[in-house]
Amino acid sequence: MITAVRASQRLDSRGNPTIQVDVKTSKGWFRSLVPSGASTGLHEAVELRDKIKSVYGGKGVETAVKNVQDVIGPALIEKGFDVRTQLKEIDQFMRKLDGTPNKARLGANAILGVSMACARAGAAEKGVPLYEFLRGEAGVEGPFVLPVPFLNVLNGGVHSGNKMAFQEFMIAPVGATSFEESIRIGCEVYHRLKEVITAKHGPTATGVGDEEGFAPPIVLPQQALDLLETAVADCGYTGKVKFAIDPASSEFFRDGLYDLGFKQETRNVLTPPGLGELYHQLIYQYPVVLLEDPFAEEDGDSWTEFNKTCKIELVGDDLLVTNVERLRIAREKKACNSMLLKVNQIGTVSEAIAAANLATSFGWSIFVSHRSGETTDDFIADLTVGLGTGHLKSGAPCRGERTAKYNRLMDIESELKATGKPYQYAGENFRFPQNL
Ligand code: PGA
Ligand code: ZN
Repeated sequence: MITAVRASQRLDSRGNPTIQVDVKTSKGWFRSLVPSGASTGLHEAVELRDKIKSVYGGKGVETAVKNVQDVIGPALIEKGFDVRTQLKEIDQFMRKLDGTPNKARLGANAILGVSMACARAGAAEKGVPLYEFLRGEAGVEGPFVLPVPFLNVLNGGVHSGNKMAFQEFMIAPVGATSFEESIRIGCEVYHRLKEVITAKHGPTATGVGDEEGFAPPIVLPQQALDLLETAVADCGYTGKVKFAIDPASSEFFRDGLYDLGFKQETRNVLTPPGLGELYHQLIYQYPVVLLEDPFAEEDGDSWTEFNKTCKIELVGDDLLVTNVERLRIAREKKACNSMLLKVNQIGTVSEAIAAANLATSFGWSIFVSHRSGETTDDFIADLTVGLGTGHLKSGAPCRGERTAKYNRLMDIESELKATGKPYQYAGENFRFPQNL
C-alpha cells in the first residue's frame, strides 16, 4: 500500500529541471528521476514544462511536481493499490486521471515518475530485485540475459556543437564473453579513440557531446567510422566490436529531402533514395550491425523501401515512440524490424512493457535506450535484464548519468553469478537473445 507520494524539481544531465518522485510504502521510500530527450519524436507523450521564460528558460517542471503532489499522489493513496501486483492498474488509473490521449494534462514526466517509483516499491514489497519484478510484469521466461552495451562514443546532430549531421556512432562489443568484459573493451576503445582524435585534430577536439561521446570537428559518417575502425584495431578488437549508427534523421528532414549540411553554412541535400544508398555503402564498407531512424518519422515510404533490402537491425525510434498504435502501423507498412524502447516516450512502465511484448510478437528485436538528457536513475538497466532484450544504449562509458546504468548492469551480473541463477551474455545474439 502506498502511504505517501512526494515530488521535487531536480536537475538532469544538461542542467535542465526534471522531476523526482518518492513513493512510500511499509518498506520505506522509493525514488525515481525522469529523463528528457532533445531529438524527440513528434508523437511522444507530452513532457510538461512550465514555459515561464524567466525561470530556467521556460523548462521548469513545477506544474508537473504539483500534479504529482496534489492530484496523482492523494488519488493513488485513496485507491489503496497493491504495488506488488497492480502496477498495470496503477498506470491505467493515472492515464484515466489524466484523461488525454498523450498525457498532456498531468504530464508524461509526472506520470512516469510515479510509475517507476511504484515499480521499485513493488519489487521491494515482493522482496525481489527490480529486474526480476519487471520480468514478472512482462511474463518473460528462460535464463536471464545480460545485454550488449551499445556505447555512443561519437556525438553529432543536435547532441553536439560540431558540424556532423548524424547524431550517434556506437560501438558494440559483441565478441565479449560477459557484460563486465564488454564494458572493459568498450572503455579501452573509448580511451584509445581519444588518443586517435588528439593525434588527428589536437587536444581541443576531445570535448564531449550530450551523451558523453567525443564531438571532434568531422562532418562525414565515413570520417566517424574511420576513427572507430582505427581505435578498435589499435586495441586489437577488430571483429569483436561492431558498429551502430543513429543518424536521427528527422532532425535534418526538410521538404522531402535530407540536408546533411544542416549544421553547416552550405546545404548538402540528399533525396531519400540517395540517403538509402549512402547507408548501403556504409553497411558494406564497415561492420555496421544496427541502424536507427535512418529516415524521418513523416517519411514512412522510405522506411518501407529501405527495409526491403536491409539485412541488418533497423530500429524505429521517432517512428514508433514506444507506442503500440505506432508499432501496428509500422508493422503493416513493413517499415522496420526492431523497436527502440524509451519509457518516457510513452509515459508509464506498463505501457512500455506492452509495447515491448507487441514488438516481440511481431518477431522484432527490442533495443532499450536512455535519453540525451539523463539522470543517475538506473531503472533502464533493470528493465533491459527484466525484458531480456539483449542490447541497450546508455551513451559513452563516461560521466555519472551514463555509467550509472552500466554499473548497475555489472552489479546485476555479479548478483546473478553469486546466487547461481542461470544467465548469459547476449553477445552475437543481441538481436534475438531468446535463441541463445
Ligand atoms: P534524444 O536522443 O534522447 O535526444 O531523443 C536519443 C535518440 O535519438 O536515440
Ligand atoms: Zn534515436
